[in-house]
Amino acid sequence: MTKDEAGKRIAELSEIIDNHNYKYYVLAQPSISDYDFDMLMNELIALEKEFPELALPSSPTQRVGGDLTKEFPTVKHRYPMLSLANSYNRDEIIDFIKRIEKTISEPVEFVCELKFDGVSISLTYEHGLLIRAVTRGDGAQGDEVTTNIKTIHSIPLKLHGDYPDFLEMRGEVIMPHDSFEKVNAERDELGLATFANPRNAAAGTIKLQDSREAASRRLDNFCYYMMMDDLPFTTHYQSLMAAKEWGFNISSHMKVCHNIDEIESFINYWDVQRKFLPFDIDGIVIKVNSFAQREELGLTAKSPRWAIAYKFKAEQVATKLVSVDFQVGRHGTITPVANLEPVQLAGTTVKRATLNNADFIRQLDLHCDDTVKVEKGGEIIPKIVGIDLEKRKAGSKPVEFITHCPECGAQLVQKEGEAAWYCPNSMGCPPQIKGRIEHFISRKAMNIESLGEGKVEMIFDNHLINNYADLYDLTYDKLYGLEKVETYVDETSLFQETITRKVSFKEKTVNNILNSLIKSREVPFARVLYALGIKEVGETTAKVIANKMGSIDNLINASLEELQEINTVGETIALSIRNFFDDERNISIINRLKNAGLQFSQEKKVATENQLLAGKTIVVSGVFANFSRDGIKQKIEDLGGKNSSSISSKTDFVVAGEKMGPEKRKKAEELGIRIMNEEEFLDMINH
Ligand code: IVH
Repeated sequence: MTKDEAGKRIAELSEIIDNHNYKYYVLAQPSISDYDFDMLMNELIALEKEFPELALPSSPTQRVGGDLTKEFPTVKHRYPMLSLANSYNRDEIIDFIKRIEKTISEPVEFVCELKFDGVSISLTYEHGLLIRAVTRGDGAQGDEVTTNIKTIHSIPLKLHGDYPDFLEMRGEVIMPHDSFEKVNAERDELGLATFANPRNAAAGTIKLQDSREAASRRLDNFCYYMMMDDLPFTTHYQSLMAAKEWGFNISSHMKVCHNIDEIESFINYWDVQRKFLPFDIDGIVIKVNSFAQREELGLTAKSPRWAIAYKFKAEQVATKLVSVDFQVGRHGTITPVANLEPVQLAGTTVKRATLNNADFIRQLDLHCDDTVKVEKGGEIIPKIVGIDLEKRKAGSKPVEFITHCPECGAQLVQKEGEAAWYCPNSMGCPPQIKGRIEHFISRKAMNIESLGEGKVEMIFDNHLINNYADLYDLTYDKLYGLEKVETYVDETSLFQETITRKVSFKEKTVNNILNSLIKSREVPFARVLYALGIKEVGETTAKVIANKMGSIDNLINASLEELQEINTVGETIALSIRNFFDDERNISIINRLKNAGLQFSQEKKVATENQLLAGKTIVVSGVFANFSRDGIKQKIEDLGGKNSSSISSKTDFVVAGEKMGPEKRKKAEELGIRIMNEEEFLDMINH
């Protein structure tokens, strides 16, 4: 394909895919199968890879993420981002309406909308293209998080129809319940702290440095406020309908109301129905519809006089604390969990609530047998928000955090700057050992399907495995006939009988286990690396590291500095990797896995073009006209050069696009390193 043809096809594919995105994510009316959609996307990805300089700034391929942001630049808001005054009952809304009626003599219409519980975002479009996405920050200035925001499918990268030249849309970035559960399950599996609610998860996600990781977390967005200098509409409702036409996701759950009764019935309806929404809302926003009336009402320093938020009351119940368990995670973290007398709350039975860590228990001043108030944080995870002190029994003792591991008895330790306590006996503490083996065999790691949690436990309890390398020493004779007595409560039986049964490994089970262990020798290096269960090294990071390092030996020998040169690896991850490989016991386990035939290397991508930049270490910074960020980095690698994220004396030169980070520029100048612009770079590589 010639460059001209490629350019045309790239533009055409971008348009088609964009349109399908809109139909799927905004209109919820897909007109193409997932398979056909993926085929179009793959074609575009391949073309952009071949001709990175032709990729459009609004290309839908940016939705999958890839670019990394080390620091988010601070950007001043063109129009300040105000917040809303809150109200909690009918009387406060009546006061709000009365205040308005004092200023406005004609009838006033109100638009009632859902109050999405997420993170507010300002989206700037110039000539129909999304050029900037900025968080609220302090209202006057926020962080520019465009790369991560572009991964949200319901946010248009390019507008359609009769849009204005300049436009700012305000909306909320939210994490739907299903994404939230998935993210937390994955974090739990990795031994990382889980997010307390979808709002925190959304806030954490838009500040991620790795946009690919942000893309995988599946955020969503609703827009609710249009801003430009001369709005061509007379009402808010009209402006949102137009915004929907241009491609924005506008909730259909809004209503034009004329009096307090209509407003109240909207509130009451959603106070019940919100339980069935696939995302969290924490109230209703009531806004004056007419722009002329808004103008007359004006603003206070913090919020407009033409809008108010009604906040739902979080449902709370009281119940009794029965006991506190201390759970030991795969990485040794101790999590206290409260066992409660079962109680109904927001449609589910609550029996347990997390107590987070020792600080949390101390701050609550929790005593044994206390009556506690439980609330659903973000409607999902129950949390203890207070104690009914009147019901506290005289002489009851405070809940004490343990000093020794409940599973292995080791003395617990705390790491500097962290609230959590750890069991340091990583190689001898049963739940940590089992947790690591269970992670090793899990689907995204070695995918040893025929071994599940139950079987690992059985083999471990029979002292046949103590680490994952031991799995490869299992034989038919060792496994055949292993027995375990299982006890469980039959929930289907009227009497909830406790059933006891004997399970034993028969020929078929044993053969399946041994065969899937043999098959696991084909699992590629990136997944083996992930399977090792190094703290902080998730699936994506493992892939990037495997690709860069090529083999476990290179990784074992890499210094902290070298590790931090890898995209996505910051100081925390680098330290965690070094700690893992500095432990001789891990090295000897890896040597045994090598002997068992597992994949500990992979071919690095071989450069195909001439090696013009061989031996050169290059830092790119800023935004480029002819390349995406990944595109320019790929070009450097294809020409034999090495990308580095930070400037040091080893840097040969810096390629500076627009908006190069001022810190980087200063450092380069201090070290006397050449800074070339995009044109000079193109000349150099003889483009
Ligand atoms: S309008 C000038 N509409 O609530 C105020 N805000 O407490 C413009 N929010 O910062 C905001 N849903 O993040 C508006 N339908 C909605 C909203 C909404 C959620 C958030 C927004 C704002 C906060 C105010």
